[in-house]
Amino acid sequence: MPQRGDTIIYDELAHASIKDGARLSLASRFNFKHNDLKDLEEKIKRSKGNIFIAVESIYSMDGDECPLEELTELTEKYNATLILDEAHSTGSHGENGSGLAVQKKLEDKIAVRVYTFGKAMGVHGACVAGDKTLINYLINFARPFIYTTAMPPHSLISIRCAFDFLQQNIDRQKMLQTNIKLFLDGIEKTRLNRVNSRSAIQNVIVPGNSEVKKLATFLQENGFDCRPILSPTVKEGSERIRICLHSFNSDEEISKLNHSLAAF
Ligand SMILES: Cc1ncc(COP(=O)(O)O)c(C=O)c1O
Repeated sequence: MPQRGDTIIYDELAHASIKDGARLSLASRFNFKHNDLKDLEEKIKRSKGNIFIAVESIYSMDGDECPLEELTELTEKYNATLILDEAHSTGSHGENGSGLAVQKKLEDKIAVRVYTFGKAMGVHGACVAGDKTLINYLINFARPFIYTTAMPPHSLISIRCAFDFLQQNIDRQKMLQTNIKLFLDGIEKTRLNRVNSRSAIQNVIVPGNSEVKKLATFLQENGFDCRPILSPTVKEGSERIRICLHSFNSDEEISKLNHSLAAF
């Protein structure tokens, strides 16, 4: 969508796919400080052409949420286009898993929403949601979409089955929230350094690659399938264990995880 002379501004913690997507365009591109609306507004004021702002509902590494209401206000104020990656809110948020924008009733204010089916839905693939003009434009001009093999029907059926399952078991969203609360209640009693998140993605920060590797090994020995996230994947000093909580995790599993973390 962005053309030569336009500007793409993305959150500094945006996923690699957003950065790579921006690179494919001839527009100028730069980032703004994570979830920092002041910095974003300053960057918008310095932008040229049509302005595109790319953010995530729930950030893939830190698990924190974007300030969606404020972002829609800012994009309206400057007549910019908001692109929202709902990868980590698809399934877990909103009616029938339709994401954060729908949960907050803001979908009409967001020009482009990207849903992926490889996370909570447990399958594969992704889609773009937006108005008819956007969809017709992408069908006709999105080169990576045009010049690639279409998804096989069994993938589409798997995605439909996953959404049917979610619709019939919508209490799983509540089960996930209960498990997140259980984890947070336990972890907040420890002195462990966390990233502030209330989503299924949680992080315990253990500075130093060798220290965080030790914690990962300790958790593996206690029965958890767990990998350390090392620098330079994350900034030096913010090495971490990234935890993905699930609706199907039992109270015992979560308590055991909390105890193991506290015991390290
Ligand atoms: C925020 C975000 N967007 C997009 C993607 C890409 O999704 P997929 O792996 O389904 O292509 C990911 C997955 O890692 C992600 O975390």
